[in-house]
Amino acid sequence: MEITYIGHSAFYLKIINGGILIDPFITGNPSAKFDINSNKVTDIFLTHGHGDHLGDAIPLSKTTKAEITAIFELANYCTEKGAYSKGVNFGGKIQYNWGSARFLPAFHSSTVPDGRYAGMPASILFDINGTKIYHAGDTCLNSEMKVCGELYKPDIAMLPVGSFYTMNTEDAVTAAKWLGTKKVIPMHYNTFPAINADIEKFKNELQQNNIECIDLKPGESLSV
Ligand code: NI
Ligand code: MN
Repeated sequence: MEITYIGHSAFYLKIINGGILIDPFITGNPSAKFDINSNKVTDIFLTHGHGDHLGDAIPLSKTTKAEITAIFELANYCTEKGAYSKGVNFGGKIQYNWGSARFLPAFHSSTVPDGRYAGMPASILFDINGTKIYHAGDTCLNSEMKVCGELYKPDIAMLPVGSFYTMNTEDAVTAAKWLGTKKVIPMHYNTFPAINADIEKFKNELQQNNIECIDLKPGESLSV
């Protein structure tokens, strides 16, 4: 599998016979680097409805026929707008031909572009061929991460670090420890001035806890 950081909280996971987009904020994202036409998209996941996460999900679903998996209310909105969607909720594993996904709580808010409530915001735990990838979405540090660490110990965690709307770097170090992960990819920072973060400091603090910081620049990939 190959993990590509698109920028902000958007990722592309290249899997056998397909590709998974997470929070595909590409159009209007000043940091985005991704060529949508040369990468196959078979699934789209959304953590919540805010514009910097919903992004291009609806038009991409229409053109690629990729199915959007999101919390029930948000999925209904996507269906209403003509996308292929599957409404889910916090609970057990959702099975796919490449593995599974599990929606876990995030502490944030969630609306769709017209201001309607979009259901609860989520973090998503993927299990792709036995590799567990946790995408925290937008959230503050919260004790659900301890539970996730105790039960699932993700191999890789994508954590927001930009503060203001989410955790900051210090909280994200605690989150990484609670999650029991050994690899962290920071996200949701430096896209706009309000969410600037000192990644070198974050890297050092993680290193002191024997956790590797993989600070992918937009457009860069990691082979897993
Ligand atoms: Ni948000
Ligand atoms: Mn956000």
